[in-house]
Amino acid sequence: MSHCPSGTGGFAEALRAVLGDLLTLRAGLDITLTDSDSGIDLLISGRVSLDLARREALAIFAESHDLASVHVLDDGFLDPVSVRRAPKMRFGEVEAPLPPGGFVQATKEGEMALLEAILEWTAGVTHCADLFAGIGTFSLPLVRHSTVHAVEGARSAVEALRKAVHGTQSLKQVTLDHRDLFRRPLAAHELNRFGSVIIDPPRAGAAAQMTELARSAVPAVIAVSCNPNTFARDARLLVDGGYDLVCVRPVDQFLWSPHVELVARFLKTA
Ligand SMILES: C[S@@+](CC[C@H](N)C(=O)[O-])C[C@H]1O[C@@H](n2cnc3c(N)ncnc32)[C@H](O)[C@@H]1O
Repeated sequence: MSHCPSGTGGFAEALRAVLGDLLTLRAGLDITLTDSDSGIDLLISGRVSLDLARREALAIFAESHDLASVHVLDDGFLDPVSVRRAPKMRFGEVEAPLPPGGFVQATKEGEMALLEAILEWTAGVTHCADLFAGIGTFSLPLVRHSTVHAVEGARSAVEALRKAVHGTQSLKQVTLDHRDLFRRPLAAHELNRFGSVIIDPPRAGAAAQMTELARSAVPAVIAVSCNPNTFARDARLLVDGGYDLVCVRPVDQFLWSPHVELVARFLKTA
């Protein structure tokens, strides 16, 4: 945590103290800390009723630890408790706003390793699709050499990517699609115009979308996965559809955990 002035241990203790009895409630809370380029974004999700004293304590905590922002998400309602700076992430030359608790790769080094493979394997490709695009981790660096059709299910992420694209000159064309790819995967005939498809689903994988990819004529698929089990299931769908798995690179980015990220390259051969 490069923005954590008191060290990770001291910070965790101080956060525990400010949350106090909220942490002991039976419903439980999810705490998400994201080290954005403008400082730490803290999202507290769960059944939280903030009285004035607790709200002030959180605002003072944000001030004393120089947090970018603190939000509480309770039953779909997002409460901006303290927004000192808008959280942002830089991808390539482009800055994207980070929605509270928005998805980013677990480490910058891991993100760079994934991106290196993606840029290497899409060299010379002029039309790419980025499925499960998030706020543009891969789409934004890719637009240096390719048009990108970015598809994502979280509205806040799509809006963040839209702002990033609109605020930037000299990018190749980016088209955005807010879409639930589990229920409405891109069909094979919609995929066929792309030279390469990048797909980075959540841990559940993307069986429905892989089935359509397997039916398509897309020459190359790059799959990013944080779950080797669902990756193996989805890779089988592609291989049965005529793709060869030509390379898998593990990316050991989940610190203090046995989990592993990977990026894999498939080429259509049949
Ligand atoms: C592993 S993250 C990858 C995000 C992005 N590629 C990145 O590297 O930052 C998976 C993304 O899939 C999105 N997602 C989850 N379920 C989805 C669905 N059913 N349809 C479309 N997108 C979904 C999440 O919001 C998240 O942004």
